[in-house]
Amino acid sequence: MHSIDMDLVEMTLDVMKYAIDRISNVTPELGAPKKEEDLLRIVGETVTADGIGGEAAFKLFRDVLVKATVPIDHPRHLAFVPAAPTRAAIMFDLVTSASSIHGAYWMEGGGGIFCENQAMKWLVSLTGMPKGTFGVFTSGGTAANLSAIVAAREEWRSRKTDNTGLKGLLITSDAAHSSVQAMAKVIDADMLMIHCEGEYLTGKELQATINQLEEKDRKRLFAVVATGGTTNAGIIDELATIADVCEKENVWFHIDCAYGGGALAAKSVKHLFNGIERADSVTIDPHKWLFSPYDCGAVIYKNMELAKNAHSQKGSYLEIFKDEGAHGFNPSEYQIQLTRRVRGMPLWFSLAMHGTDKYRVAIERGIELAQIAAKKIEDRPYLELVRPPSLSVVLYRRKGWTPD
Ligand SMILES: Cc1ncc(COP(=O)(O)O)c(C=O)c1O
Repeated sequence: MHSIDMDLVEMTLDVMKYAIDRISNVTPELGAPKKEEDLLRIVGETVTADGIGGEAAFKLFRDVLVKATVPIDHPRHLAFVPAAPTRAAIMFDLVTSASSIHGAYWMEGGGGIFCENQAMKWLVSLTGMPKGTFGVFTSGGTAANLSAIVAAREEWRSRKTDNTGLKGLLITSDAAHSSVQAMAKVIDADMLMIHCEGEYLTGKELQATINQLEEKDRKRLFAVVATGGTTNAGIIDELATIADVCEKENVWFHIDCAYGGGALAAKSVKHLFNGIERADSVTIDPHKWLFSPYDCGAVIYKNMELAKNAHSQKGSYLEIFKDEGAHGFNPSEYQIQLTRRVRGMPLWFSLAMHGTDKYRVAIERGIELAQIAAKKIEDRPYLELVRPPSLSVVLYRRKGWTPD
C-alpha cells in the first residue's frame, strides 16, 4: 500500500484533476442527500477483502457520492452559517495533509505551528486583549468552548480545596449556542440560562441573576458565557457591562464569537464588541467567517498558564516533548486534543498570500450584502424584516404565510 506503482500514479492524477476542477469551479453542482439504502443500492459495498481499486472507488465518489452532498461554499447556499474558504486556503489544506505534520508539540511540528501562530497573532490582535493573550486552533467552536470552559472550571477549583468536591455552575443566556449547553453536560456542570428581556444579555440582568442565587449556588458559579454574534440573529451581548460584573464577582468571562468573530476585522461593527478585550477566553471559528476550509476553530486565553494547568497531559512518553531543547509552543497543552492536525495552516497561507486588508474588505462586503438584502426585502410589500440585519444575518418573513 505504500509502494509507488502505476495504480497509484493513475489514482493521483484522478484526484489532482478532480481537486483542481473543484477548486476552480465557481458553481459546483448543488447536490442533495439521498437515503443511505439508496446510496448502497447504487454503489454497492465498497470495502471488501480484495479492494475495489482506486479508479473504481474514486469514480463512485465523483459520480455518485459527492452528488449526495450539498456544497457549503456554493454562492447560493444561504442556509445556516455557510463556509466560504478562499481557494488559497483550500489548496493549502491539500499541502497540510501531504506534509504529515503532527501539530501537538513544537518538537515535531515547529514549522507548521509557527505558521499557525502567525495567524493566531492576527486573531488575537483583533480582540484587543492584553499582552500575554494567545490561543490555539481547534476542530471548531464546540471544542474551543469546551477547552475554555474546562480551563475556567480548573481555575475555579484551584482557588479552594472546597471547590474540588462541588459541581460547577455556569451562567449564559437563552440565545447562547447549543454547544455551550452540550459542553456543560460533558463536564457535568449545571447551567443557568437567563431569559433576556431585550435581544441581548446585559450586565444588569447578569448581576440580578447572580444576586438571586442561593449561597450554595453562588459558591458553585465559575463562569459566564456571553455570545459575540448569535447564530440565529447575529446579535452581540452587552460585553462591557457583563465584563464589569464578571470582574466584580470574580468569575471567568468567556465569549463565544464562533460565528461573529470574523466581524472583529470590520471597522464598521467592531464597536459592537466593546468589552471583548476584558474576556478571560474567546472562541472564534475561522471556518465560519474567516474563509478557512473545515474544520478550523480557535480558542484564545488571556492567561495561557491557566489553560496549560487545565490541559497539559502528563505521561512518561510525553515528557520528552517538554525537555530542554524541545522547547517551543505546544498546542496540545492548551486545548482538549493531543494529536492534532495543524488546522490553522490553511488560514495562515491565505492570510500570508492575500494580506489582512483583503480579509477586512471581504468581511465588510458580507455585512454590506446583508444591508442590501434588507433593503430589497423592505422594498417588497409581501415581505417584512423580523428585525434589522445584524452582522451578516438577515431575518425576514413572508407576510401572511404560516409555518405550513
Ligand atoms: C455561536 C456559535 N458557537 C458555537 C458553535 C459551534 O461551532 P462548531 O460547529 O464549529 O463546533 C456555532 C456553530 O454554528 C456557533 O454559531
